[in-house]
Amino acid sequence: MHRRALVTGGAGFIGSHLAEALLSEGLEVRVLDNLSMGKRENVPDGAELVEGDVCSADDVRGSLKGVDIVFHEAARVSIRSSIKEFYDDAETNLMGTLNVLKCLPGTDVRKLVYASSMAVYAEAPSPEPINETYATVPISPYGISKLASEMYCMQFSRTTGIDCHALRYFNTYGPRQTPSPYVGVITIFTHRLLDGEAPVIFGDGEQKRDFVYVGDIARANLAAMRSDIARRIFNVGTGIPTSVNQIAKLLRGEIAPDIEVRHADEHPGELRYSVADVSRITRELGFRPSTRLEERIGEVVEFCRSSRQPGGESGGS
Ligand SMILES: NC(=O)c1ccc[n+]([C@@H]2O[C@H](COP(=O)([O-])OP(=O)(O)OC[C@H]3O[C@@H](n4cnc5c(N)ncnc54)[C@H](O)[C@@H]3O)[C@@H](O)[C@H]2O)c1
Repeated sequence: MHRRALVTGGAGFIGSHLAEALLSEGLEVRVLDNLSMGKRENVPDGAELVEGDVCSADDVRGSLKGVDIVFHEAARVSIRSSIKEFYDDAETNLMGTLNVLKCLPGTDVRKLVYASSMAVYAEAPSPEPINETYATVPISPYGISKLASEMYCMQFSRTTGIDCHALRYFNTYGPRQTPSPYVGVITIFTHRLLDGEAPVIFGDGEQKRDFVYVGDIARANLAAMRSDIARRIFNVGTGIPTSVNQIAKLLRGEIAPDIEVRHADEHPGELRYSVADVSRITRELGFRPSTRLEERIGEVVEFCRSSRQPGGESGGS
């Protein structure tokens, strides 16, 4: 049984949903976030926010007091900008992770759950779901830093006995995704359509992704927390391929059927096919994704709409 959790990046999109889920399980929750992308108002009532940096040993050590489990979510989350800004990416995503590891020995922490990504995988030839043994040859600096971090976490776990799971999240969607031109096609298209602008599809739009609801990602983390299997890597997705064209169609239907899409050149570093085989997490942790995209996409639209009202949920944009 764990009693107090640290969620790094807990003022961000996934971290804040995870913090909520942990509170509802009866844990005490502390969030460490530098608010570079996250927002104070995302941190749920009942969780303590420590404003600080995962790259600072003082900030991490200070936030670990009394903590027995760490969920490391803090990162610079952009495949596209990692190509130019590879140094900054590695500084936060790799060195920040190593700093967290360095601070764990001598604390009460018994388990680390690391937020990894589908970006660790090599290009797949088709949208067939891939499992955790698929080749890991990342095509972006972001994927490289996520893969290296995973490997450090596992090696660290073997030598210290502090348990570790790495969860490879696929494309996560849901309310509270931080609006940015680079991350989260559903949130990006929603905001463009609400602005009366055409969603821009890079390439032919037939690239297929696995869109997983943020509440399912939070549940997968709870399953990893409860597990007594040692040192394991799990895909977290749905196993269902959805094209970017389908996303645009769904959102146009919800918001503005008359707005046509625009196409632009593809970006390097982004996988064409990225679909999770989730049989390992289902078999070993008893986790099944329970949410269908068509049922939840309206929730994202509603959230984005309300966050644009003055005084709306995320303070306007
Ligand atoms: N969103 C996705 O589709 C997706 C997919 C795969 C993996 N992931 C991983 O999930 C995790 C959470 O992503 P998210 O989508 O919630 O992104 P997010 O940007 O909403 O959250 C990341 C949080 O980390 C904080 N942060 C960044 N640098 C920091 C630093 N140096 N010190 C302290 N805090 C810092 C930000 O302020 C933000 O609140 C990340 O590790 C990301 O790589 C996300």
